[in-house]
Amino acid sequence: MLLYILPLIAGYLLGSISFSYLIGKWVKGIDIRHHGSGNAGATNTLRVLGVGPAISVLAMDVVKGILAVWISIWAFPEEQWLHALTGLSVILGHNWPVFFGFKGGKGIATTIGVTASLFFFSALYAGIIAILSIVWTRYVSLGSLIFTGLLPLFVFWQHGIHAFFWLTLVIACFAFTRHRSNLVKLVKGQENKLGSKGTKGS
Ligand code: G3P
Repeated sequence: MLLYILPLIAGYLLGSISFSYLIGKWVKGIDIRHHGSGNAGATNTLRVLGVGPAISVLAMDVVKGILAVWISIWAFPEEQWLHALTGLSVILGHNWPVFFGFKGGKGIATTIGVTASLFFFSALYAGIIAILSIVWTRYVSLGSLIFTGLLPLFVFWQHGIHAFFWLTLVIACFAFTRHRSNLVKLVKGQENKLGSKGTKGS
């Protein structure tokens, strides 16, 4: 029973590796959290450092979500509630990283990795709608909120009330809390569009 804590710790530590911070330091010697929107994530990396670094950050943030879930599935194949909690722990690490003063990102790329590993089709359906909304509006934050907001609906439709459903509800709460400043700017019509330079948020 005590061993169940190991994937949770591994997930949190993995999530705490802030790739946008590391790449910002490596490519330009800057702390990404002091530039653009101030968020340690792929969207802000795109804004501040360009396409190449942003794709690298996006890929690595997704992969750490996948890796954390795979570790828990490998260690405890039957315990789906533990897989869900490990998914949560890697997102927690990304948002509040122990290695970087608990100031991380908004967790969306890592959420993509976690959810695609646990319930691929629900994540795919929510992801397609989110991508279409981003293409249409050029607001990544809106797409992120649509993605996380739709996850509980699709998971409920596909799996019913299940550990994964509760996971998606918590994920949606995290995402909406982390996007508070984006929400305010969206309402005021001041949100950064994809391709704009960006202003500091939360
Ligand atoms: O995933 C983060 C994105 O939804 C918003 O990022 O930098 O525009 O606040 P940003």
